[in-house]
Amino acid sequence: MKLLAPSILSADGARLGAEIAAVEKAGADWIHLDVMDGHFVPNITMGPALIAALRKTTGLPFDVHLMISNPDRYIDSFAAAGADYITVHVEAADHLHRTLEMIRKTGKKAGVSLNPATPLVAVEEILSDIDLLLIMSVNPGFGGQQFIAGSLSKIKRASEMIARMPQKPLLEVDGGVQLQNIASIAKTGADVLVAGAAVFGTGDYAKTIASLKAAANGT
Ligand code: DX5
Ligand code: ZN
Repeated sequence: MKLLAPSILSADGARLGAEIAAVEKAGADWIHLDVMDGHFVPNITMGPALIAALRKTTGLPFDVHLMISNPDRYIDSFAAAGADYITVHVEAADHLHRTLEMIRKTGKKAGVSLNPATPLVAVEEILSDIDLLLIMSVNPGFGGQQFIAGSLSKIKRASEMIARMPQKPLLEVDGGVQLQNIASIAKTGADVLVAGAAVFGTGDYAKTIASLKAAANGT
């Protein structure tokens, strides 16, 4: 079963708790939380305080995607805020192995993300240390962008790389996932599909999430 993780970046910011409750009721598997610092990416979003407040609104796993420079400084704060998965960018971590150890020490699941221009070889040496590999299929910073077509071949190669591992991290795809392309992305080997605009841009979350999941699972 493929997992669907709505990104609240595209939700109504004035009603975030209610938006999370609504997608939970509509069948979401995880909640994807995009943390941006205005430095690693050209946008600023949320910090640990908001995530801690939202933590009280749902029992769904919190998939925290850190698009921030110097992630080591904030790992303890995001762990304490209630993250379940903490994902850092390989481009933002000077000593990725150490960063992953720090995440593990908090007891949380460790994820690593790659920008579209970063080759898969950048995670080869740490693949056995992670629980989640996140492939960005848009340049990070904003919701509602178009899926970069070349990402499909990268996802396929990532999935083949993971298939050779004794312990397999989950493969997540983030950016431009829509009803028209989710089936091909899932078929290529993604386990977790992030969708922001495709979910929160629609009126009927239950209907949207059911269609996205059906397409992803080929049912
Ligand atoms: C982009 C974020 C994504 C974004 C996805 O920087 O990491 O999680 O919210 O939004 P959509 O699905 O609208 O591309
Ligand atoms: Zn994200």
